[in-house]
Parts: sequence; structure tokens; C-alpha cells
Amino acid sequence: MNQSSLAAVSTFKLPVLPIPHSHPSRNCGNIDNLAIECHNMCYSITTKQGRLKPILKDCSLSIPSGQLWMLLGPNGSGKSTLLKIFAGLLNPNEGFLRVKKPRSFVFQNPDHQVVMPTVKDDVAFGLSKFNLTYDEIRSRVARALDAVGMYDYLQRPVQTLSGGQKQRVAIAGALAEACKVLLLDELTTFLDEADQVGVIKAVKNTLASSEEITALWVTHRLEELEYADGAVYMEEGKVIMHGDASSIMDFIEARQAAYIKQIYS
Ligand SMILES: Nc1ncnc2c1ncn2[C@@H]1O[C@H](COP(=O)(O)OP(=O)(O)OP(=O)(O)O)[C@@H](O)[C@H]1O
Ligand SMILES: [Mg+2]
Repeated sequence: MNQSSLAAVSTFKLPVLPIPHSHPSRNCGNIDNLAIECHNMCYSITTKQGRLKPILKDCSLSIPSGQLWMLLGPNGSGKSTLLKIFAGLLNPNEGFLRVKKPRSFVFQNPDHQVVMPTVKDDVAFGLSKFNLTYDEIRSRVARALDAVGMYDYLQRPVQTLSGGQKQRVAIAGALAEACKVLLLDELTTFLDEADQVGVIKAVKNTLASSEEITALWVTHRLEELEYADGAVYMEEGKVIMHGDASSIMDFIEARQAAYIKQIYS
């Protein structure tokens, strides 16, 4: 998919989509069942020339707890910036924001995140800040690795893992810290197809085994939407729409078709 081509089609009427219903036992429509919520959120940077440059403009969305959502949009539309704000790495200038905590940001390149020599040490690394006994640490590491299908790799040196396996170890690190919101920025960009599907399925299984965890996954790959409960589509720093994944997929495909038609007309 050529995402950058999507931005060129600006004449499309933008539909408003409802937020998909969550699992009934998990979400009863009250505010505590939203993992991420923002209203009219803006973020600007100051350029070297001292000018204010808006990056995110009036962004509003809400994501129910316990779901896997995807965030799509052309290059430079603001996906990573939005994710970093949700992770607490950047602060919005305006608007309302609420994200359940603890939250964890998993980087695109696992080599930037995996720090210890063996898989079990790496997953245990972030637990040093909690006052846990050895048995508690061992149990949390085992459960987290099991959730992402990496328990059998407990003793393996990290450098012997594939890119997708390293991603899963990085996700296990976040799970071991009992994070409630997982923020994942284009994890599958550098992975082959098998690793790509492995990482998505690991996230999906993790969510299925816990009602507490919510994941927001930035991607350029339209086909990954089939694993999503919902999706957000951005352009030029704005949330254009958010709602159920199949409607967003239809919308993006229609936008692509309109663009192609425009090229050949
Ligand atoms: N620190 C910064 N200084 C200047 N411009 C920035 C800064 N951070 C982000 N931007 C700009 O903000 C816009 C949004 O960037 P962002 O990285 O959030 O986009 P993205 O949707 O994640 O893009 P991609 O798909 O390429 O990863 C881009 O135009 C980018 O150049
Ligand atoms: Mg990005």
C-alpha cells in the first residue's frame, strides 16, 4: 500500500463511524472501560526559527479497554507523535488526555529495547524497580514469556533470536511490569511475513488471556487490520476517523481507488 498517496486525495467525504462495542462482559459503557481517551488534543513544536509548528491538531478519540486497535495514516500524519503522547514521552499543549497506567511503549527496532544478555534477564530487567521477591520475579517473567509464546526461550542469549522473537521479548518485558496499555510503533516494519504474523498473534493472544490489557498498534500494512478490534485513521496531524476496523479498511481502500482513478482520468 502506498500510504503517502492517500494524502493526495483530499476531496473525499469523510464518514463518521461509531466506536465498536467491546466485549459485553468487559465494557459496560462507563468511562473506566476506556483505556485511552483524548479530546481536542493539540501538540506543537517550536522550530529553530522560533515559530510554532502544529504537529497534532484537535485530536479526539477513545479506545475501549481490552481491545487491539490499529493506528494508520500516511507518512508524517502524526501517528508516532500521538503514540508518544499516549506513552507520556511527550506532553500535549492543549486538550484532555487520559491513558490507563502503567503504560508501555515498544520501539520499532527491538535492538533499542532489549538490553540484557539472556531472554529471562531481559524480561526481569524492568522489575528491579518493584520490591519483588525472587519467586515473584520468576513467576512474572514466566507468565509474560508464556503469553507471547516465548517461554521455551527463557535461557537463550538474546542475540540468537530473530527480529520477531526479540519484539516478543520486548512485549513480554512490558507485560511483566503489569502494563495496562501497550503502545506499539510499527513493530513489523523490518520483519519477514512469518515473524510479522507471529508478533501480531502474540499481542492478540496476550489480550485474549487478560481483560486488563489494551494495545494500540501503529502500522502501514492494511492487511494487519484483520487482527484489529478497531482502528484510527490520521492525516496531516488530524484524526480523520476512528471506529470498527472493517469500516476503516473500506474507507482507506475507497480512498486509494479514488486516487488511482484520479491518476488515470
Ligand atoms: N521533533 C520534531 N521536529 C520537527 N518536526 C517534527 C518533530 N517530530 C515530528 N515532527 C513532524 O511531525 C509530523 C508527524 O511526525 P510523526 O513521526 O508523528 O509521523 P508518522 O505518522 O509517525 O510518520 P511515519 O509513518 O513516517 O512514521 C511530521 O511532519 C514530522 O516531520
Ligand atoms: Mg512514525
